[in-house]
Amino acid sequence: MTGKRILLIVGGGIAAYKACELIRLLRKRGHMVRCVLTAGGAHFVTPMTLAALSEQPVHSSLWELKDEVEMGHIELSRQADLVVVCPATADLLAKMAAGIADDLATTVLLATDKPVLAVPAMNVRMWLHAATRRNVATLRRDGVAVMTPDEGPMACGEFGPGRLPEPDAIVTAIEDALHNPFVPSAVEGPAPRVAASSRASTSLGTNGVLAGRHILVTAGPTHEPIDPVRYIANRSSGKQGFAIAGALAALGAEVTLVAGPVALPTPAGVTRVDVETAREMAAAVDAALPVEAAIMVAAVADWRAEAAGLKIKKSGEPPALALVENPDILAMLSHSPNRPRLVVGFAAETNDVVAHAQAKLARKGCDWIVANDVSGPTGRSVMGGADNAIHLVTAAGVEDWPTLPKAEVAQRLAARIAQALTEPA
Ligand code: C5P
Repeated sequence: MTGKRILLIVGGGIAAYKACELIRLLRKRGHMVRCVLTAGGAHFVTPMTLAALSEQPVHSSLWELKDEVEMGHIELSRQADLVVVCPATADLLAKMAAGIADDLATTVLLATDKPVLAVPAMNVRMWLHAATRRNVATLRRDGVAVMTPDEGPMACGEFGPGRLPEPDAIVTAIEDALHNPFVPSAVEGPAPRVAASSRASTSLGTNGVLAGRHILVTAGPTHEPIDPVRYIANRSSGKQGFAIAGALAALGAEVTLVAGPVALPTPAGVTRVDVETAREMAAAVDAALPVEAAIMVAAVADWRAEAAGLKIKKSGEPPALALVENPDILAMLSHSPNRPRLVVGFAAETNDVVAHAQAKLARKGCDWIVANDVSGPTGRSVMGGADNAIHLVTAAGVEDWPTLPKAEVAQRLAARIAQALTEPA
């Protein structure tokens, strides 16, 4: 990727020191970084440190930007390709969600027309608090990409989710966000769907072929709580499902995307419903009906634990986890009286991919199975990777597609779905 311009807003938290490492890594990769430091952030890092690392002036007060023509708060973000908030404290997230603009950082965030990536870091209880969860859900609905914090020991002595992700992971999320820019909902102008249609090219080449048709997409993993701080998860990144939702919206469909916990921006023109568990996903799918087609890309956890109400303490003996089977959303939908005309399932397999997919087609009762091979070392497998090689299994037979970027798989699949929905019965 060629060098991009990143406006880095450094919030007030102990993790602010990691912003220094982030600047170094971003510059090493050829990006230009300009910093805005909040009053809280200045308690943890100095403007001098950020200026020295970024080799750019650091801005901290709305009132120091006297020369609006030269560098006003609007201009600050206009000159960037991406705005990154790191660390994003609970307070900053709350202000962003509420649209409060009471200092330079929050004013820039309210005024920006650029994609925004927030990298939260806070105490575990603050992260798990209903108010923060609500704020994060609001921000994601508004099109802000919010990373999921890491889990581990915290500076405050507690343990759990809330740690700033490692700088390398933040760089990856930044480059992903730069690859998949989106239009924040606050931007005036053409409807987001128009923006999506103009960006995505498909083999159909026409806009609006799916206009007026409601399509449901599920994406990402599900998290199944073990206790208030631990959960069972899988490595699904949500990238393929999000790309499919975006590609369908680009063809004019009214898309509802039911997303498990992932830090991806909402594709333009897509209505997103965030869920955590398989049971929440099943309820959100049910609430979205009726739809003409359902594309079930999510890697739903097959089992959930009988979650403990309080954190399980270490007691010498490892605790026994009693697992309970989750509802099979795809099978239920395929057999429901509200069955969509077209139901597409995904199959992640590590061996005998096509044979398993054919068996799954019959077992689940869906119309197509998109099968992919997810074997391969962690980090280089399809799960989380940028490319995908799929086999499209239908009653008519099996098509082997070449390895393609996930965005292209999405566009081809959206074109096939459009063909299936628009051809005469
Ligand atoms: O059985 P398996 O998990 O391999 O099936 C994968 C397909 O079934 C995917 O389309 C996935 O979204 C869907 N699925 C589901 N509910 C489950 C498990 C899988 O909808 N509990």
